[in-house]
Amino acid sequence: MGAGSRIVWPVRIQRPDEPLTLDDDLVVAAENLPVLSHLPGGVFDLVYMDPPFNTGRAQARARIEVTHAPGARGPGARTGFGGRRYQSRLLERLSYEDAFDDYLAFLEPRLRAARDLLAAHGTLYFHIDYREAHYCKLLLDEIFGRDAFLNELIWAYDYGAKPRRRWPAKHDTILVYARVPGAHHFDAEAVEREPYMAPGLVGPEKAARGKRPTDVWFHTIVATNGREKTGYPTQKPEGVLRRIVAASSRPGGWCLDPFAGSGTLGAVCAALGRRYVLVDSSPTAVEVMRARLGGSAAPSPGSVLPVAGQQRLDTVT
Ligand SMILES: C[S@@+](CC[C@H](N)C(=O)[O-])C[C@H]1O[C@@H](n2cnc3c(N)ncnc32)[C@H](O)[C@@H]1O
Repeated sequence: MGAGSRIVWPVRIQRPDEPLTLDDDLVVAAENLPVLSHLPGGVFDLVYMDPPFNTGRAQARARIEVTHAPGARGPGARTGFGGRRYQSRLLERLSYEDAFDDYLAFLEPRLRAARDLLAAHGTLYFHIDYREAHYCKLLLDEIFGRDAFLNELIWAYDYGAKPRRRWPAKHDTILVYARVPGAHHFDAEAVEREPYMAPGLVGPEKAARGKRPTDVWFHTIVATNGREKTGYPTQKPEGVLRRIVAASSRPGGWCLDPFAGSGTLGAVCAALGRRYVLVDSSPTAVEVMRARLGGSAAPSPGSVLPVAGQQRLDTVT
């Protein structure tokens, strides 16, 4: 980003004539649409989009601290294994809104902008669930062209409540589109192999090597006490993003997440040696990303946050 240029939160770009240039990894605290129009076109290997799913209710998580407290009583007191008493305390509530009057009208300009940001060899991964997946597929076909459609990935997990009057919905859908049909980068060998479902049906050598993943991915959600857990609502597992980044971006290539949340794409890019731009309008999300990705300065609303060694902080008014 050029010296003196600014982004003002939430939507106004101070210097419309001055584009964002990519010289280091960026976390941008802003509404994503104007940011997308200020990024250089045709340079991203990968755009991963994980928007709110239009569930009709706010997505919220409470962060709770639980301590061993033998005499605990009243609100927050619990009994654990072996009758041990614990006291829980609410640390913070993280949330974002997830209800839209016209969901596709919200998505369309962002998808069009994302397409224009992709390099000719670039790929879009659009993450959604069963409620809107089919409407989004039609919209994406219109924007990218049906011949650019590569995959419908199914990420299957097994966690949470299970209704008894229908099949419990335990999968998300990730729709994959090439910027230019046939020109997309895809490195099948860079993706970690997984065990065959029936290793007895293939020879021992093949069974030991494992198989390349198909378009159905069984992967746990982020473990409640796991290393990567940030507490941010709807945080996606790094394992799912790792496959996407490894297959569809080149080492050193630029990746973009306009709905970055806790910054999962950034964490994976940093681990795999890719560059990233992350955008989120929620100050809480930006705080979480700073803690996760190692920002070197406290963010203020609308700031472009330096991460991963970036020296400069472009401030806001
Ligand atoms: C499903 S969450 C993303 C979760 C993320 N993939 C992760 O692993 O943590 C969607 C995010 O989009 C953000 N968001 C929603 N509308 C936005 C907009 N117009 N501009 C920027 N961010 C937005 C929300 O604040 C939320 O953090």
